[in-house]
Amino acid sequence: MTPPIEQNASPYGTLPPASPLATRKPVSLPRLQELHARGEKITMLTAYDATFAAVADAAGVDCILVGDSLGMVCQGLSSTVGVTLETMRYHVESVARGLRRAQATTWLIGDLPYGTYQESREQALRSAVVLMQAGAHMIKLEGGGWTADIVRFFVERGIPVCAHLGLTPQTVHALGGYRVQGKTAESAAILTRHAHELQDAGATLMVLEMVPAALAAQLTGQLQHCATIGIGAGNGTAGQVLVLHDMLGLNLGKMPKFVRNFMAELPGVPGQHGIKEAMQAYVKAVKEGSFPDNALHAW
Ligand code: KIV
Repeated sequence: MTPPIEQNASPYGTLPPASPLATRKPVSLPRLQELHARGEKITMLTAYDATFAAVADAAGVDCILVGDSLGMVCQGLSSTVGVTLETMRYHVESVARGLRRAQATTWLIGDLPYGTYQESREQALRSAVVLMQAGAHMIKLEGGGWTADIVRFFVERGIPVCAHLGLTPQTVHALGGYRVQGKTAESAAILTRHAHELQDAGATLMVLEMVPAALAAQLTGQLQHCATIGIGAGNGTAGQVLVLHDMLGLNLGKMPKFVRNFMAELPGVPGQHGIKEAMQAYVKAVKEGSFPDNALHAW
């Protein structure tokens, strides 16, 4: 008789975590829902290559987002509009390999780039499959309204979804720039309706980018089944995300208001520190609620 598969065994020939150093259970969809339910903040950072991903995993970051922000930080583009699906596939695959090299405990989210999900649900599914087969555990897509149909289509087919509302950089030209969204009563009402529709469609996570802190906190309280992940949305969200290069201070321009440079001096860490320590400090600050500080990093 075939012995039953042990609960944490790796069926179908998959490799167990590569490193014997794993200090925590892998982050899974139920684990994210559990963190949300018990009010523990969810930590997310972007990463685009194997090494940074492995370090983020070892630092205890809950989720890595291979964001299309890589267009700016890796490719030198002036917006995310020019990022292709093939570029995203390459970076998701690199990050997935890096995670297998480390603890393989971090949840991996792949971002659908501009033009790869707008035509139809079928086009969106084909694009999502490319990133899932590259190693993503979840797919992120921008926008509200018409996207709820795509989110439902994905979730019914076993693809976990992270939605993205507020400032959606792929539509920066329509929005008239990188501006705070949901400031008027009318735009806040639309954003709120979209957030509920995306939750009802089955999105598990929802990035809220550059949204007033009060609105983000209100939405976070309303959405019982979808954890909000803020970036420039104050400290009342269920989790936080930052672009890796920003939080490491690797930005020659003016740093966005919502960023904290974790490579700068860290409280309790004397002298110089490395990137892993900066990531650990970010995780600690988010978990304990000291980052972001609404007085400094929010609207
Ligand atoms: O592309 C990206 O990195 C993102 C984050 C800023 C949320 O969408």
